[in-house]
Amino acid sequence: MNFMNYRQFFPLLSRTVNGKPLVYLDNAATAQKPQAVIDTVNELHAALNGNIHRGVHYMAEQCTMRYEAARESVRKLLNAEKTHEAIFTAGTTAGINLVAFSFGEKYVKAGDEIVVTEMEHHSNIVPWQLLCERKGATLKVLPFDNEGNLRMDLLPSLLNEKTKIVAVTQVSNVLGTVNPVEKIIKIAHAKNIPVLVDGAQGAQHGGIDVQKTGCDFYVFSGHKMYGPTGVGVLYAKEKFLEEMPPYQGGGDMVKTVSFAKTTYADLPYKFEAGTANYIGAIGLGSAIEFLNNGQKTEEESYSLCSCSPLSALQAHEHALLQRATQELQAIDGLKIYGNAAQKSSLISFTIDGIHHLDVAQILDKLGIAVRTGTLCAEPVMQHFGLTGMVRASFAFYNTLEEVDKLVEGVKKVKAMM
Ligand code: ALA
Repeated sequence: MNFMNYRQFFPLLSRTVNGKPLVYLDNAATAQKPQAVIDTVNELHAALNGNIHRGVHYMAEQCTMRYEAARESVRKLLNAEKTHEAIFTAGTTAGINLVAFSFGEKYVKAGDEIVVTEMEHHSNIVPWQLLCERKGATLKVLPFDNEGNLRMDLLPSLLNEKTKIVAVTQVSNVLGTVNPVEKIIKIAHAKNIPVLVDGAQGAQHGGIDVQKTGCDFYVFSGHKMYGPTGVGVLYAKEKFLEEMPPYQGGGDMVKTVSFAKTTYADLPYKFEAGTANYIGAIGLGSAIEFLNNGQKTEEESYSLCSCSPLSALQAHEHALLQRATQELQAIDGLKIYGNAAQKSSLISFTIDGIHHLDVAQILDKLGIAVRTGTLCAEPVMQHFGLTGMVRASFAFYNTLEEVDKLVEGVKKVKAMM
């Protein structure tokens, strides 16, 4: 497959920054959008906006239909059994907060334990800390080794009758490690402990089959998988969604309201209070469609392969990762953090004697966008005794030439500093 073909569908990729062609390597923070998604969102705002689940007029009905079609696309993407197991949220963080609150209200009491890992993003730490503070529960942490692998040997010793849930990232946003979530779920389930998988960095790189893995909760964001910002998904098994109390109250999540008693709407609406970001959700549906089938050209022929492209895209991302790893690790004084055998397409590094912010700012002058700082994962920085790293993260629309530009850019930084 010619991956240059993909770039034509992402208008932003052809812009310049600081007079240089943009080399966009901050895909783990947010991915760029194909024209199909931009067109969908524009069309809805310009010509079809009507609030969902409320009106009987044409536009309200069209938006409702397309919102529910997007939910069905999510169901297929995750291979969920039931469409109403997919809840639209504002993003990964919102999804985890929903579970930490509602699951916590139902199942967690003083003395209980929650297990997370040392490589979690703050979004998969802080909501659980808030829950522990509210309930008098304790947060337990599964560490990782210096290669960036979870210490799976220690997992069984952390799980006991007090453990109420395990929350683990599918892919580390710093180390790139692809965690053995299926194995973690199996070990936890053997002790009747449910598992939440944070798919923020996983959904766009192969995703998950929630039925095959037995995953109880899966969360991801639209904007990291080529969809709009401000929308995401919480998948949860029906049993939990039925038993958990609502997270937020308001319109759309009720069946009947009186001052004496309010009853809640059926799934999935029980967890979708207020006017949903339906345009975002429909845009996300369009991103999923793009990943599955490519984009129609003006001649109405599909220009991209429609045969399970997610795996083909991953193979290309892996080639980018390999080239970048080989070239960067050959640079004297450059250290890469995260060398797991199963690794996603991102590289975090430091250069001896050069502040990470300086590296990122000079790269920006060369038109190369990377991320820098603690990467919303301070415990990972603490593990290595660092205040920050530089991270380059690749998407399928990146090219080997762009990897080479990154490597040349880093060499220039070294020469300048
Ligand atoms: N969580 C996003 C990142 O890792 C913002 O960059």
